[in-house]
Amino acid sequence: MPDTLGAVTIHAPAAASVPDAPGFFLSFEGGDGVGKSTQLHLLAQWLHDALGREVVTTREPGGTALGVELRNAVLHGEDVDPRTEALLYATDRAHHVHTVVRPALERGAVVLTDRYLDSSVAYQSGGRELSAEEVENLSLWATGGLRPQLTVLLDLDPDVGRGRLTGAPDRLERAGDDFHTRTRLAFLDRARTAEADGRQPWFVVDASGPVDEIQTAIRARVAAALGLVT
Ligand code: TYD
Repeated sequence: MPDTLGAVTIHAPAAASVPDAPGFFLSFEGGDGVGKSTQLHLLAQWLHDALGREVVTTREPGGTALGVELRNAVLHGEDVDPRTEALLYATDRAHHVHTVVRPALERGAVVLTDRYLDSSVAYQSGGRELSAEEVENLSLWATGGLRPQLTVLLDLDPDVGRGRLTGAPDRLERAGDDFHTRTRLAFLDRARTAEADGRQPWFVVDASGPVDEIQTAIRARVAAALGLVT
């Protein structure tokens, strides 16, 4: 995907919008090539058409103009040490939350982000071996403590994900098989321990199946989270 600005897409609310509905913050997580952006955009269209809610789709890194520069630096720039890498992602996140995510939530929008804080824990801790606690605390500080209300984890064997990627691999995609296996396990561990640790609920989906079946499962879970079904 080109690293251009324009990651943020706002679907304007339809006439039958729900003006006083509180915002809802949902993150998509998973390894490279698992299909997050496909599923996120199908969900955004459905939420907009079915609910008439304002839906903001965005991503990390690179959901803002500054974020695009940081994205280029961290994915296509010179090699950096793990702490610098963690700080670049956290800087992107701080600015993204301040300028895009919080204002949208305050308007009552549903915000769907392609990656958020848990990517940092999985990649910069699980992958790079910083401690999960320090990486998480860095992001919580950067965002003023903003967590998603639901996280959808698309889980896939990293070998299969890599086979789906097109174009020249970026720094993170080049990080090696062990790195991507550790990252996958870190995501699954995060999902498994979320409730006990008092973090947001996770919905783990097997991303090896057909796109429409995955989307149907995600819609059902999101509808429940939004209180649309009992
Ligand atoms: P992504 O935009 O999902 O990749 P692409 O659009 O190229 O498929 O993410 C870019 C890379 O950044 C991905 O390898 C995961 C990594 N990443 C981190 O290491 N930490 C983070 O906090 C985030 C948000 C992403």
